[in-house]
Amino acid sequence: MSQCFTVPEPRPLEDGDKTLLPMPSPLKICFAASEVAPFSKTGGLADVAGALPRQLHRHGHDVRVITPLHGLVDCREHGLAPVDFLQDIHVDVGRHALSFSVWSKKSDKATPEIYFVDCPQMFHRESVYTGEADEAPRFALLSRAVFECCQRMAWAPDVLHCHDWHTALIPLLRRTVYEWDQLFQATRTLVTIHNIGYQGVFPSSMLDELGLDGWSHMFDQEEMREGRVNFLRTGLIYADAITTVSPSYAREIQTPEYGMGLSDLLRARSDRLTGILNGVDYDEWSPERDRYIPHRYSRARPEAKAKNKAYLLQQMGLSSEGDAPLIGIVSRLTAQKGFDLCFEVLPEILAERELRLCVLGSGETKYEEFFDWLSGHFPGRVAYFRGYSEELAHLIEAGSDMFLMPSRFEPCGLNQMFSLRYGTIPIVRRTGGLGDSVELFDVDKGTGTGFVFDRFESGALRWAMEYALRSYAKPEQWRGLMQNAMARNYSWEKQVEDYLEIYRWLPEA
Ligand code: ADP
Ligand code: GLC
Repeated sequence: MSQCFTVPEPRPLEDGDKTLLPMPSPLKICFAASEVAPFSKTGGLADVAGALPRQLHRHGHDVRVITPLHGLVDCREHGLAPVDFLQDIHVDVGRHALSFSVWSKKSDKATPEIYFVDCPQMFHRESVYTGEADEAPRFALLSRAVFECCQRMAWAPDVLHCHDWHTALIPLLRRTVYEWDQLFQATRTLVTIHNIGYQGVFPSSMLDELGLDGWSHMFDQEEMREGRVNFLRTGLIYADAITTVSPSYAREIQTPEYGMGLSDLLRARSDRLTGILNGVDYDEWSPERDRYIPHRYSRARPEAKAKNKAYLLQQMGLSSEGDAPLIGIVSRLTAQKGFDLCFEVLPEILAERELRLCVLGSGETKYEEFFDWLSGHFPGRVAYFRGYSEELAHLIEAGSDMFLMPSRFEPCGLNQMFSLRYGTIPIVRRTGGLGDSVELFDVDKGTGTGFVFDRFESGALRWAMEYALRSYAKPEQWRGLMQNAMARNYSWEKQVEDYLEIYRWLPEA
């Protein structure tokens, strides 16, 4: 690892470290994120970037969210309007002479101010992420825009809260390009790792392209020697604090197996690293008030769940014969999500047992082809919808009996927590946030909320599925399990306190 920066020796956090700094209250918190629900979304990052600021805003903090105006965002539908003093802002991102304007969704009681960086040249694309040659400049622009907007608003955030590699250059930019500006003198930076699998790695010539070549000595030198720069690594070096989205993932990423090349750095910075489990936005994800499902239900009156099941089966062309359990999947189809285990297990178990499977998702071809094949092979028993559908995602949560997430790694995972609230029993691998939010069902004691397996092996998944199917066959047992699951509370209301604690004691690194 480069020695160009001083990394503290690992040492556990002591209580004295948490002495409250003289921070003003309410806090000024700037969120920088590549996607924010409901405006743009590819995964859970958008859910978090939409819900956490809302919760902080409700607590009375001055929260401003800055995100791209992606081509897919419908300004009219969301009531966005141009901000008159944030128009035609010119910024040279190295070789890219760019100009952007800002649109906003005005804050009200429920929502904070959200600013959308409108640069059609960079953000009017078919998807949020492109993998195209200008991916680095696109998100470097977002990071620059964060500072440019704060300057024009004469707004000095106490915390710049960055999310994943797309905004991980911000801590470095504060110490370099914007170091001169007194406005940011007291500003601290926090980088949240949602997924260490995506790091934003580019050829080192990118520094020249981004106009950062004058600061090349501040990037990790070992990586530079190999001709690369890594945005996430850079953020983790310069952030005043680092969080990730579950306590278990915070431990896992400090090991070579899960750290994806960043474990040494994270161990060296372990005194600045905390895991905070994501919350659930129960305004959006509760069977009592879900606007997408035909029949509402609750823990006290769960009977209507069966009607949602019948509706889902019918909508997806699945047979409702007998009382076969229905397993749901809603997921990005990538290696992370562990569906490799399903290649062997699902055809076997479907051949032997009466069950239904309803899958929603898209991604890598091999998984899409597998689920296509499975639905062709088991007509009326397996349905696969390739694509993205908010409505179907809600319907699957409400209508399924079980929800499958056999992830290889899972920083937090949201669907298992949604599932708990909907009485849809999760079958998960114990990794990251899955292990932190689902407790193995204990038949004898009647405790637990789901079926959890440990090893990433087909046999282990098979064990968990068999256990789930056996339990489903005992209605009394199953009802108890549903009650346990629906009673769990992972609301942002609770989780937000941990973020506030960090914002308040964020010491200067
Ligand atoms: P990740 O962020 O790794 O994809 P999470 O479980 O944290 O995993 O969050 C995924 C989010 O994206 C959830 O809100 C889930 O419902 C949603 N989602 C994933 N795939 C789809 C899809 N095909 N259609 C609709 N929503 C989806
Ligand atoms: C990432 C992770 C997921 C997490 C989400 C929100 O995309 O893969 O586990 O829930 O971010 O933090």
